[in-house]
Amino acid sequence: MADVEYLRSKLTAHPDFPKKGIVFLDIFPILRDPIAFETLITHLLHHLTSQTIPNIPSKKIDVVVGLDARGFLLGPILALRLGASFVPVRKQGKLPGTCESATYEKEYGTDSFEMQSDAIKPGQSVIVVDDLIATGGSAKAAGELIAKLGGKTVEYLFIIELMFLKGGSKLDAPVYSIVQSD
Ligand code: ADE
Repeated sequence: MADVEYLRSKLTAHPDFPKKGIVFLDIFPILRDPIAFETLITHLLHHLTSQTIPNIPSKKIDVVVGLDARGFLLGPILALRLGASFVPVRKQGKLPGTCESATYEKEYGTDSFEMQSDAIKPGQSVIVVDDLIATGGSAKAAGELIAKLGGKTVEYLFIIELMFLKGGSKLDAPVYSIVQSD
């Protein structure tokens, strides 16, 4: 698909960032260019509204969950265009009110994600959005928070999937990624 190659061409690779041995894939050049940003959002919406997503025959999405921090750049736009709620998942200690927590593994040690306890109602259909899936730890924690609140995660969406880390295998719903990287 032409838009996939176009979006791939906009990504930039930064060797040894933020530390030696990691090739950081930067999505910001897409957001810098309004044509590319529109192509990205339209591509994701087309996927969500015109394709059959397993587990969601009606294609009705009630809630878009965005992951701290780059998921916050995509999630609200998708939610508005879908007529769905936007719900943030944030690092521990940032959200007011009663929250659910889930812990996940990072490269060194663990971190906790939180979601406000009244953000999702039992039975709602939810998608999770972030820029990139690596090991899948943070997306898995988000899925646990959604499940705790009685939501049903129907799909995890990313711009980039690092295939060699097999993060998708940890998750409780299918992954959709635009660019697959080895
Ligand atoms: N997060 C984890 N791995 C990453 C990578 N290679 N590029 C951008 N973000 C990341």
